[in-house]
Amino acid sequence: MANNTKGRRDFMGMALGGFTALGGIGALYAMKRSWDPLPSVKAAGFTTIDLAPAQDNVLITEKWRGKPIFILKQSKKMMSKVSDETKKRLIEINGAHYMVAVGLCTHLGCIPGYDPTDESFLCACHGGMYDATAEVTKAPPPRGLDIPPFKIEGTKLVLGETGPEYEQMLADGTTMPV
Ligand code: FES
Repeated sequence: MANNTKGRRDFMGMALGGFTALGGIGALYAMKRSWDPLPSVKAAGFTTIDLAPAQDNVLITEKWRGKPIFILKQSKKMMSKVSDETKKRLIEINGAHYMVAVGLCTHLGCIPGYDPTDESFLCACHGGMYDATAEVTKAPPPRGLDIPPFKIEGTKLVLGETGPEYEQMLADGTTMPV
């Protein structure tokens, strides 16, 4: 009887250990996926990123001039919640919408973390929050994440160049110069 109980406990321990290990591998895989850069080319202050492989609601982190750049392809469900005003923050390529922003909190510069379940960013430094378009939803950040200068070339985004879409964002106050 005692042996049976011990055997069961050993089995439960192994099963739980297995689940934990699997969970850990899953978390590492998810983390790696979100940090896998899209195909990109960096040269003389410009970063060219092909957005074609981007997946809905999977955050991509790139780097441009030493700054983290967040790219988030919006799903149809996410777009259904976006107001016309907030839609101005998004970049449209071939009918798909992307949030592209400098991943530094506009309060004091911490790097916010993305929660794909909640479809929001939380800045752990002082609790500021942003929605999936990187518009601020909870103070203290004074504004949404800044949008870096960009130019659209086919399915590619060239960071560091100024295209007409970015100029429009500056003109209507959607973002400020970075
Ligand atoms: S630095 Fe992000 S809330 Fe303060």
